[in-house]
Amino acid sequence: MEAGVSIVAMSPQMLPRAQVLASRLALELIPRSADAAGLVLEVHPDNLALRDCTRPGTRALVIEPHARRAPAYGRDLISRALGRGCRTVIDATAGFGTDAFDFVRRGKQVLAIERVGVIAEMLMEAARRSCEQHGRDDLTVISADAREQIAKQARADVIFLDPMFPGRDRHSARPRKAQQLLRALAGDDLDAEELARIARDKALKRVVIKRPRTAPPLAGKPDHCFRGRSVRYDIYFSHTR
Ligand SMILES: C[S@@+](CC[C@H](N)C(=O)[O-])C[C@H]1O[C@@H](n2cnc3c(N)ncnc32)[C@H](O)[C@@H]1O
Repeated sequence: MEAGVSIVAMSPQMLPRAQVLASRLALELIPRSADAAGLVLEVHPDNLALRDCTRPGTRALVIEPHARRAPAYGRDLISRALGRGCRTVIDATAGFGTDAFDFVRRGKQVLAIERVGVIAEMLMEAARRSCEQHGRDDLTVISADAREQIAKQARADVIFLDPMFPGRDRHSARPRKAQQLLRALAGDDLDAEELARIARDKALKRVVIKRPRTAPPLAGKPDHCFRGRSVRYDIYFSHTR
């Protein structure tokens, strides 16, 4: 059960879908958003939205796959962090998918893994919409713990990690609302070092770890590092392949 999240159908037609999601995610189905005390997953005909009822008057969060401006491909920090030969990426800490959709826009085949069911469900919905709009099928979303998923089967040129960092919110480049919702749902990702170890064992070319600029590295001294204004990309090459 996701702590403090309930679910509501925003029209009578959406009730069957809300019931299915309520059962799958073990959420309490409520009749109206106004009845909620904490977070509410709203089931709309064309999207899933997450509303924080402790902050009345704020807008619900909807994942917009193509909201961000296209970066200067090839020269920017992320392109350099992924490296030239990268065709496939596992985003093992997918969250609301900002990075995953960015990789897709760069032409990568992306497997996004997210372990918080509500977030994974919102991302699956956004990936489905994006696929319908653009006729592309290059983002797969899995609701699972990446430590198990990567160890089990997944291989990719690059495994990308962006775990929560205790106390990072003030310095985060993410919009504040998204950051607060991620924090409320996901907590602190205290097992991130274990995930990094597994990722380093499985990545075909490299592991890329996104960190707040001044945070300590997650997996020891990186082989290389790309620094931006608020974030840093630590690179660990897969020397054995
Ligand atoms: C800081 S957020 C990532 C934000 C994301 N990069 C974006 O662009 O929206 C970290 C996310 O990783 C997820 N996460 C952390 N460890 C995980 C694991 N072992 N398996 C799957 N998801 C994980 C958390 O639940 C959280 O949603």
